[in-house]
Amino acid sequence: MICLGIESTAHTFGVGIIDENGRVLANVIKAFTTEKGGIIPGEAAQHHADVCANAITEALQESGLSIRETGLIAFSQGPGIGHCLKIGATAARTLSLKNKLPIIGVNHCIAHLEIGRLMTAAKDPVLLYVSGANTQVISYEAGKYRIIGETLDIGTGNFLDVFARHIGLGFPGGPKIEELAAKGNNYIKLPYTVKGMDVSLGGLLTNLKRKSDAGLKKEDLCFSLQETAFAMLIEISERALAHCGKDELLLGGGVACNKRLQEMAERMCEERNAKLFVPKDRKVLVDNGLMIAWLGILMHKSGRKMSIEETDIKPYQRTDHVEVTWR
Ligand code: ATP
Ligand code: FE2
Repeated sequence: MICLGIESTAHTFGVGIIDENGRVLANVIKAFTTEKGGIIPGEAAQHHADVCANAITEALQESGLSIRETGLIAFSQGPGIGHCLKIGATAARTLSLKNKLPIIGVNHCIAHLEIGRLMTAAKDPVLLYVSGANTQVISYEAGKYRIIGETLDIGTGNFLDVFARHIGLGFPGGPKIEELAAKGNNYIKLPYTVKGMDVSLGGLLTNLKRKSDAGLKKEDLCFSLQETAFAMLIEISERALAHCGKDELLLGGGVACNKRLQEMAERMCEERNAKLFVPKDRKVLVDNGLMIAWLGILMHKSGRKMSIEETDIKPYQRTDHVEVTWR
């Protein structure tokens, strides 16, 4: 079985093709970027509509297959921005109906975890999923992927992007903050907010903006930001490993590309005899259609079928709403 998967939850329109043995046949990523950053739903959706047909054609060309040679169409059903999700869902329904292929809507966050399991040796990991809009610690327990901890306000990537914009770094901010942070060495004390298993980044953002307006050095602020925010994420990940009795940590989401975050995760894992897994390919960490296709295969093989009526988008779908039938 071969599946074509479509991702369109936020900035990225992606089309991936994978077979049931996990062989990657294509992974086309078209990211919507803006000068000033920030995402206006209608504009991102327009971008997706503009690139949609080309992205599908490119992915098929990359795989050397015709659409009829694939056996399944998967798409991101949620969570995400409604305007954007609709474009991916509509494209998937069209491909499915026109070519009489089964269709399946998948959860975006779980897709990050499953592609990580495929691409690394992780078997039953706790996932630290850190992207633009999402920051969750996820673990499989009793038939569902449970959210063990999460952000109480903004996602880590959005937090980085907003601060980067504030200090004139442009978008996306994460990689630019990482570069500047490497040049800072003076730790400036910042608010550290872990509440139970959750983190809060809103207050930290306000505090950082005030400090930069007061003229503190950007390099030191970026350095201190990373040390503080990432320590919060690593703390809840460590507690999740302990509570769930697991010894594998998997990183996913665009922010997981950050070397300092990876280093801190590595250090924590070493100290508690756990193992860290990070997919090597950046195109697997960020939003992509490949992970959607792979989760589609897993669900389909476990017997999950969807009628067209069930393919409505689910912008607020929670990770733990999905019944896991494939494990
Ligand atoms: P979603 O939240 O729906 O997954 P997204 O499009 O924001 O959507 P990703 O593509 O996974 O998600 O990640 C994008 C985010 O990752 C951006 O906020 C970007 O700043 C951040 N990012 C990318 N590279 C780095 C890096 N090296 N360090 C820190 N953050 C990074
Ligand atoms: Fe994502």
